[in-house]
Amino acid sequence: MQKIVILGSTGSIGKNALNIVRCFPDQFQVVGLAAQSNYALLERQVKAFRPSVASLADKSAAAILAKRLQGTGTEVLGGPEGVIETASLPAADRVISAIVGSAGLLPTLAAIYANKTVALANKETIVMAGELVMREAKSRNVAVLPVDSEHSALFQLLENRKSHEIKRVILTASGGPLLRLSEQKKKTISQKEALAHPTWKMGPKISIDSATLMNKGFEMIEARWFFDLPESQIDVVIHPQSIVHSFVEFVDRSLIAQMGFPDMRIPIAYAMFHPHRESLPFKLPDLTAFPSLTFEPPKPKSFPLLTIAREALQTGGTMPAVLNRANESAVAAFLEKRIGFLDIHKIIRKVLDAYSPSPINTVDDVLLADRWAGLKTERCIQTVSRK
Ligand SMILES: NC(=O)c1ccc[n+]([C@@H]2O[C@H](COP(=O)([O-])OP(=O)(O)OC[C@H]3O[C@@H](n4cnc5c(N)ncnc54)[C@H](OP(=O)(O)O)[C@@H]3O)[C@@H](O)[C@H]2O)c1
Repeated sequence: MQKIVILGSTGSIGKNALNIVRCFPDQFQVVGLAAQSNYALLERQVKAFRPSVASLADKSAAAILAKRLQGTGTEVLGGPEGVIETASLPAADRVISAIVGSAGLLPTLAAIYANKTVALANKETIVMAGELVMREAKSRNVAVLPVDSEHSALFQLLENRKSHEIKRVILTASGGPLLRLSEQKKKTISQKEALAHPTWKMGPKISIDSATLMNKGFEMIEARWFFDLPESQIDVVIHPQSIVHSFVEFVDRSLIAQMGFPDMRIPIAYAMFHPHRESLPFKLPDLTAFPSLTFEPPKPKSFPLLTIAREALQTGGTMPAVLNRANESAVAAFLEKRIGFLDIHKIIRKVLDAYSPSPINTVDDVLLADRWAGLKTERCIQTVSRK
């Protein structure tokens, strides 16, 4: 029986992870759940899974939850420190890190410092501090397993391979809902249109990141640190059907793909059961129902954030942390209707151009860069939204 904590249990990944627990009650026991403020859903999850601890980063929401859970035996913790405590519960073996955004960094690091196996969906942690996170995990012999479908694919393709055999890895991108749209039309795109991902059902932030292709930029940075590959060996191809999740091209020009219908329960389960594979009780369409598969290069003009992310990866140090924060704030501003869709990349470019990166020695270097970028991005957003 594995004892697990789910950080971000009320989100898209968190709910899917709980669906897997529901299918395998003899293999998983939930000991901790954490979210931001959705006390109503967290209350239902606590009553269904009976963890010893539940936490909400929002203290007033935690106070409401604590009242509702009186007498259930579940301890309620409030504030970011409560989420960090949940991430490092002594009883837990494995932590599923599925908080969205930079708020996932400290809880994920706490899980690593507490020697938990981490199933990592929260890609922003790796974008902000990949080198530090992997160094800390390695020094403690802690496994950090990818949940992202592309990296789960690469993880499966690269297991037991020697680095000199690998020519490059190729991440596939659906291209998002705006793939065929002209730049003119993107100017006035609504939040609802940008959120309507054609192949994956996900939370709002990652859906916008998929429409701008920043998500793929982040995934290049993830691949850099998950697989210790130089940036020059990481490529991206547009594959609108989302059936191939990634390729590895070997030096002998063999191209090996990992494929499957786009369903996040598959990579989530892989990271929850690893190193075993478990037979999943889900009905999925057969191979013969696959659509025709197409591949095309991403057009740099249509997806400037892909180029910007590659540059940030090449620069290194604290630059990717600044990229992450600029993106997080700009996407939030777009979702709040303060800026237009095409302002997102323009604001990010401005913030990065104004920044002088430094090396990352400790997590404080990352947090400092994050804070600087938050202030700078907000000033850029205000300038744009006043126009
Ligand atoms: N969805 C996917 O298919 C997918 C695929 C690959 C990778 N990912 C990555 O997985 C992560 C989660 O994505 P998602 O789509 O599941 O997001 P989501 O549906 O928006 O859910 C986000 C979760 O994080 C919680 N949260 C937000 N801020 C928090 C904070 N400060 N402290 C504690 N919890 C907080 C939310 O709680 P509340 O509900 O209370 O706000 C919610 O449980 C992201 O990093 C994303 O890039 C997602």
